[in-house]
Amino acid sequence: IQSFVHRFEPAGAPDRPPLLLLHGTGGDETDLMPLGRMLAPGAALLSPRGPVLENGMPRFFRRLAEGVFDEADLRRRAADLAAFVGAARETYGLPAPLAVGFSNGANIAAAMLLLHPEVLAGALLIRAMVPLAEPPAADLAGRPVLILSGSLDPIVPAQNAARLAAQLGAAGAAVTHEVLPAGHGLTQADLARAQAWLAGVQ
Ligand code: MLT
Repeated sequence: IQSFVHRFEPAGAPDRPPLLLLHGTGGDETDLMPLGRMLAPGAALLSPRGPVLENGMPRFFRRLAEGVFDEADLRRRAADLAAFVGAARETYGLPAPLAVGFSNGANIAAAMLLLHPEVLAGALLIRAMVPLAEPPAADLAGRPVLILSGSLDPIVPAQNAARLAAQLGAAGAAVTHEVLPAGHGLTQADLARAQAWLAGVQ
């Protein structure tokens, strides 16, 4: 648990699953706390800071270029994050969390779903892309996943997000993939869709 700088906010409504908040490149552990409070009022919030620095900007794993990942590093970092979640669950007495990831945070959440399918109860992936060229055969056993993509996203081609949806679906997740009229940034439509989806999975 010492391995990740993080913020934790205990649950006010203990029946809601905790959220694991995973920020985008250049964010930190405080960034998504207001989003988490808004999306799931009363849920416990666990928000680690990405341990990799790219020109001073925190991320969850290394990349070789925009959209080109260092997969060896990604695998190692996904394992580290999975271990952090396990340790935090023990320390704070939490059930398995739902990940809420944006951009780089969504990409490591997608990698964790495929590499460590037991860690997350489900995931909301905002502007995610395929994290691994050769995903392992995971068993996601009906876990709910919402992927929100932007039709005008210059970083994530629509086809790439669709491929991620297909991979997670093939692994047994209950995937919903929605393409919003948006770019790479978060929009009001994302918030509305995310809130409605989260209300349905608790
Ligand atoms: C990534 O590196 O994970 C993607 O390019 C998204 C980003 O962080 O901009």
